[in-house]
Amino acid sequence: MNIAIDGPAGAGKSTIARLAAKKLGFLYVDTGAMYRAIALYLLWNETDIDDEEELKKALERININIVYENNVQHVFLNFQDVSAEIRSEKVSIMASKTSALQPVRDKLLNLQKDIATKNNVIMDGRDIGTNILPNAEVKIYLDASVEVRAKRRFDEMKNKGENPDLESIKLNIIARDEQDMNRKIAPLKKAEDATLIDSSYMSIDQVVDKIISLEREANKDK
Ligand code: DC
Repeated sequence: MNIAIDGPAGAGKSTIARLAAKKLGFLYVDTGAMYRAIALYLLWNETDIDDEEELKKALERININIVYENNVQHVFLNFQDVSAEIRSEKVSIMASKTSALQPVRDKLLNLQKDIATKNNVIMDGRDIGTNILPNAEVKIYLDASVEVRAKRRFDEMKNKGENPDLESIKLNIIARDEQDMNRKIAPLKKAEDATLIDSSYMSIDQVVDKIISLEREANKDK
């Protein structure tokens, strides 16, 4: 059984997918983390991503591995656990840019498909329902308004003791949406057969319950 969750940054995909996976006993696969790990390598090595040859050579030197410890996903970049390093704002911006490049997407396609073939997964990303797992039994497009997403990010940073600026977070989200939705390759969009869930005014539990009920329904049809 495969569950695909797509949607824009900050819609709550990872929180919700993680909780639903735990309830269902599925593996949670965060594909964004894989794009982030590649972006981190390209940043560390100051790769000129506009130079296709240089980019391809850099990608050949990258080894991405996903390891689960107590059901928590860890991302290894050339055998180094970079699960913490990939969460910086710098990496977010770079990943949004580099995930639009075909060689980068080609690099991760088989890894993602392979994990889903071997396991019951909830996989989240931008093109899971449309591209990676077109035959997923359950597809969800998780959305929320820009205001709500910005406020969630703001609260998250505040809780970490940072001093965030709501307006600049909002502008950042708008810029990333623009980039993710309008790129030529594998843009973020709702698969035709995906169920749209707008989480703006829903609690986390409500969204998780909705996903569990969609899974039950899909299981009944089998
Ligand atoms: O979900 P996230 O913020 O960790 O994703 C980081 C970037 O990677 C984001 O800009 C979109 C991109 N991405 C993608 O293009 N395809 C995916 N399946 C997952 C993420």
